[in-house]
Amino acid sequence: MKQKETIILGIETSCDDTSAAICKNDTILSNVISNQEVHNQYGGVVPELASRAHQQNIIPVVDKAIKDAGISVNNINAVAFTGGPGLIGALLVGSSFAKGFSLAKNIPLIEVDHLQAHVLAHFIKETSEWHKSPLFPFLCLLVSGGNSQIIIVEDYFNMKVIGQTIDDAAGEAYDKCAKIMGLPYPGGPVIDKFSIYGSPNAFKFSKPKVDNLNFSFSGLKTAFLYTVRDKIKEDAQFIKNNLFDLCSSIQFTINDILIEKLVIAAKSTNINRLAISGGVSANSALRSQLTEKANKLGYELFFTKPKFSTDNAAMVAIAGYFKYRKKKFAEQNCTPYARNII
Ligand code: KG4
Repeated sequence: MKQKETIILGIETSCDDTSAAICKNDTILSNVISNQEVHNQYGGVVPELASRAHQQNIIPVVDKAIKDAGISVNNINAVAFTGGPGLIGALLVGSSFAKGFSLAKNIPLIEVDHLQAHVLAHFIKETSEWHKSPLFPFLCLLVSGGNSQIIIVEDYFNMKVIGQTIDDAAGEAYDKCAKIMGLPYPGGPVIDKFSIYGSPNAFKFSKPKVDNLNFSFSGLKTAFLYTVRDKIKEDAQFIKNNLFDLCSSIQFTINDILIEKLVIAAKSTNINRLAISGGVSANSALRSQLTEKANKLGYELFFTKPKFSTDNAAMVAIAGYFKYRKKKFAEQNCTPYARNII
């Protein structure tokens, strides 16, 4: 029997990207992302500026997503939005828009958890492209600017966090080390780019000793700061002269910490399907280091395309589609939330 077609509009405004996407069932028809450049000069996201920029971007971004998808606004069956975690002012823009849209079009409203959406990005299909999604259960390493978690994914919405950071997230470690080197925000992609020209073994940074499957990155950031500060005393041009090696070495250490814990998690749960999600999962060295390890240990590995790793509304639309199938709808009085709930 042919599956009924469902068209979902997804909205993502949890941090500094205003994004809207359209999916038809689990296939993405459009995914528009407007990055907010206003934060670059501050070395991090300024919440109030993010809210203001979302306010300006939301209508043009949704309009473009609908046009790019080649559909009419009247074809949309439901609107899904990120409920949290994230910046409250930023989330309010997306949730208010979605609520208004749902009322105006008389269609269901669907609240999506940002972290679940990052995991479900592994189920995004694109028109005319073959796509292999992980079978359940699988382990997902979710690494972004605000989170570093290892999750057992039992089902689309049955997820259990078995490890997480006790201080900074992996993306924060990338961004803060980049800032120490005077690189622009977000630092992760810049470190990724420069690392290609450096040696991962040029500088050694000791890895934190953290119990269980948890992570810690704040000590590593301090160790990096002290190394740079001490070396600058001997050579004022130290950063400039060693930029590529510094990038490559800190990148290798962060990735090594992540991979080590993921492998322990795989061994202790006996789950041999591994996936990575979130902005840091776009890191090219993390992908190659993990591929090497997975090949050696016989694990099946799943990546999303980099455009679906960093914040995007395609993952919100897909998560919305899975919720739509189960009729998991939200009420107009639902409120955005800042902190993690999974
Ligand atoms: O998932 P995301 O777009 O936003 C949330 O935090 O939810 O993740 C942003 C984080 C930033 O810390 C950024 O530096 C990092 O992901 N990132 C990367 C790369 N691309 C983005 N880190 C390392 N290598 C990359 N290629």
